Amino acid sequence: MKDELKHPVFRIISELSGKLNIQAYVIGGFVRDIFLKRNSKDIDIVVLGNGIDFAEKLQKHLGKSAQLSVFENFGTAMIKYKDWEIEFVGARKESYRKNSRKPIVENGTLQDDQNRRDLTINAMAISLHPDTYGEFLDPFNGMEDLRNRIIRTPLNPEITFSDDPLRMIRAIRFATQLNFIIEEKTLEAISTQKERIRIVSPERISDELNKMIMADKPSKGFKLLDKTGLLQIIFPEMSRLKGVEKIKGISHKDNFYHTIKVLDNISLHTDDLWLRWAAILHDIAKPDTKRFLDNAWTFHGHDALGAKKVPQIFRRLKLPLNHKMKYVQKLVQLHLRPIVLSQDVVSDSAVRRLLFEAGDDVEDLMTLCEADITSKNDEKVKRFLENFKIVRQKLKEVEEKDKIRNFQPPITGELIMETFGIKPSKLIGDIKNAIKEAILEGEIHNNFDEAYQFMLKEAEKYDLKPKSM
Ligand code: CTP
Repeated sequence: MKDELKHPVFRIISELSGKLNIQAYVIGGFVRDIFLKRNSKDIDIVVLGNGIDFAEKLQKHLGKSAQLSVFENFGTAMIKYKDWEIEFVGARKESYRKNSRKPIVENGTLQDDQNRRDLTINAMAISLHPDTYGEFLDPFNGMEDLRNRIIRTPLNPEITFSDDPLRMIRAIRFATQLNFIIEEKTLEAISTQKERIRIVSPERISDELNKMIMADKPSKGFKLLDKTGLLQIIFPEMSRLKGVEKIKGISHKDNFYHTIKVLDNISLHTDDLWLRWAAILHDIAKPDTKRFLDNAWTFHGHDALGAKKVPQIFRRLKLPLNHKMKYVQKLVQLHLRPIVLSQDVVSDSAVRRLLFEAGDDVEDLMTLCEADITSKNDEKVKRFLENFKIVRQKLKEVEEKDKIRNFQPPITGELIMETFGIKPSKLIGDIKNAIKEAILEGEIHNNFDEAYQFMLKEAEKYDLKPKSM
């Protein structure tokens, strides 16, 4: 194992461990990631003693280039050293209170500490003490599970999950990220313990969900969340997308499976978490808008209602309520518009309106629309993709001509007030809006002179005359 611990920081920790004669081990994600050949900069160190004391001594040794943070409540300390984050904790034997994630902590042995970890692949340790440097300690055969691509808890899964229910979502997240299989008993225990997830804070759940969503094929995780019953509890809106109804022999598609297919599709083209969230939420209001009219299923208005639901969902999941949320909302709102543009002969004004509303996110919107094609009919897929190519071309042409994407009104409110010698009022907004509409409709070009002339004409409707006349 010595080769895997090449970084000098391990040597330094080892020396300190020898000097103090306190056993220290690198454990958890860092060890797992060595074998997965993933580069990790987060190191967890377990010491048989006081983790905070150990970290304080190491910090003194490393000097100014190392910053120490101490978390007394958790009995942990963190050292930032170059681009490494090293967390120190004393080995624990933990018991949990029934209704809280916060453990009652007792000192323990390394084996106690490994027992209380979430998964066999996350419970492997390597000794750093000089006498046993590099010794690999893997009491639950995590290495074999890594080789066989299996997710399993070290102890009885009912106990591991009940102790810390977030681990149920972690198990699903790792299975999705690594494309592993969850061992049968572990999977069953998630179903039986699912209700315990309610004691976990939404922030921590969303952190895991986001990691899962960033996997190469995130549909796997959503299928597992659904299968175990967790989805219904943590994200009921998505769970409601499930199911197919049939009237007069006509059925609609299952919007849950459609959504996760769209998510997989878009994941081939983007690593932007929020664009992936837009894919997850694009049809979220379909169950609310579903109607059977004239022998067909319709979901009229699901785009607008979906956009309205985005802030509620973000708030509940404790996702950020900032420009990221607005971006997702915008894409949900606009996701049908390029389809309309692809169907008929479209006017430039329709293209300009979309450019105006989507702004710089128009490329992402097109990526979403292309991912939204989930037909199994290859001919259809080809046709739709061709159509979207044409839409992209139209968007490009109109943008080059009219520069609408980052529309800035060529006439400001100040200029209107100054020209006509009037005070701020609703009228200014009306005139500005009329100018914008004239540009989007193509009545005038997007430049100052034409907009100025238009303003003068528009003002006449209100009996306004320029000051100098
Ligand atoms: N751990 C645990 N139960 C949890 C969270 C973490 O047992 N609910 C343990 C695992 O041994 C894990 C280690 O703490 O490997 C570090 O956790 P964390 O840094 O959250 O995750 P990593 O496993 O390092 O994975 P990633 O870097 O992908 O988040």
